[in-house]
Amino acid sequence: MSSVPKAAVRAALFGRAFSSSARSPSIRRRAVGTVTLLLAVSTAWVLLSGTVARLLRTVAPVSDKQGARIGPMSNVRATLRAVQKAKPEERANVLAGELAAWKEGPPPATVAAAAAACTPRDAADALLRGPGLSSWGVVDVGANGGYPVTDVSLRRGAAWVVSIEPDERNFKRLRRRRRNGGAFLPVAGAAGANSGRAKMRFHKSRDDFSCFNCLDTRKSEVFEHDVNVYTVDQLVMDATAATVAQPPEGAGCSASKVAAVPIRLLKTDTQGHERAVLEGARRLLAAKRVHYVMMEFDPKLFHTRDNAMGALREIFAAGLQCVQLALAGVSDNARLSESFPFFGARAVTNESATEFYEFVKASDKYTDVLCSSR
Ligand SMILES: *[C@@H]1O[C@H](CO)[C@@H](O)[C@H](O)[C@H]1NC(C)=O
Repeated sequence: MSSVPKAAVRAALFGRAFSSSARSPSIRRRAVGTVTLLLAVSTAWVLLSGTVARLLRTVAPVSDKQGARIGPMSNVRATLRAVQKAKPEERANVLAGELAAWKEGPPPATVAAAAAACTPRDAADALLRGPGLSSWGVVDVGANGGYPVTDVSLRRGAAWVVSIEPDERNFKRLRRRRRNGGAFLPVAGAAGANSGRAKMRFHKSRDDFSCFNCLDTRKSEVFEHDVNVYTVDQLVMDATAATVAQPPEGAGCSASKVAAVPIRLLKTDTQGHERAVLEGARRLLAAKRVHYVMMEFDPKLFHTRDNAMGALREIFAAGLQCVQLALAGVSDNARLSESFPFFGARAVTNESATEFYEFVKASDKYTDVLCSSR
């Protein structure tokens, strides 16, 4: 594989920039040769790793509800493939098992492999479980209608859930989420680096309450209005702000309760504003009160590499290190890992962050990172 030029691998996978490099006949011949070689190598690999995966399944079938591990982790690629083929609950079980087995240091390859097969929904299932969730808080920034993080946290009885959502149509759905014992503080507004008011764009269509189209301001169906902006620190460290902002649904959720409890998960999915959200959570992160951070990572929405790096560095500065979840909209993530050795094998750390960014950007997709300190 090492003789295959990286650009050709990328071109073969993503169908870009290939024709432009194949103008002359000799280059075209070489390119066709490369693709044939690539196909042969990947076919052989698929057959081989499929066999390994089947072998692993017979050795250690995924069954233990408390977080099974799929086989020995000597072959992370085969593991990734096997986990991806499993049912969502099984994927979540495997991720939970791998997270439990990770005791210290940077995330091991086993966690990277399990995570790379998981969607954010699987990850939420894996993180928000276990005895004692009732003594943890959860912060859901960009909660949308509450699925999955707010919903799973509330149903499983987290001590409290603070959910922030600026679109009032999403917010209506969000505040109706059913609780199971814990307190719920839905906050209508946005999270940022500083509190105040800001203009924000929304989309008229029900299909686009996440406002993907808001990137294009010329569209007539995009409208703008002012929203309240809070910092996560303000909502959680100075918890009274949340109660001032919104009459809390969760009666009995006192400011002192929010302030005292450790946080199982801080999730942020704010269409590229992650850096500002995390800057507004610096005190909380520095206080080491956050166990896991889950952040959407979309190079397009970040606009610049600096912005993406800035968001990741907020996380690293707090002593957390990350792995990535599955790439959104890719049906065969395991296959990607064959061409991009980074994916599903390596942690996203301060050292590998640039390489990670370049990989996601080249894939033309987006993903989420899951971060923890151990
Ligand atoms: C991460 O790397 C950057 C540049 O490579 C460095 O300036 C920064 O101090 C590092 N941060 C941590 C937390 O190690």
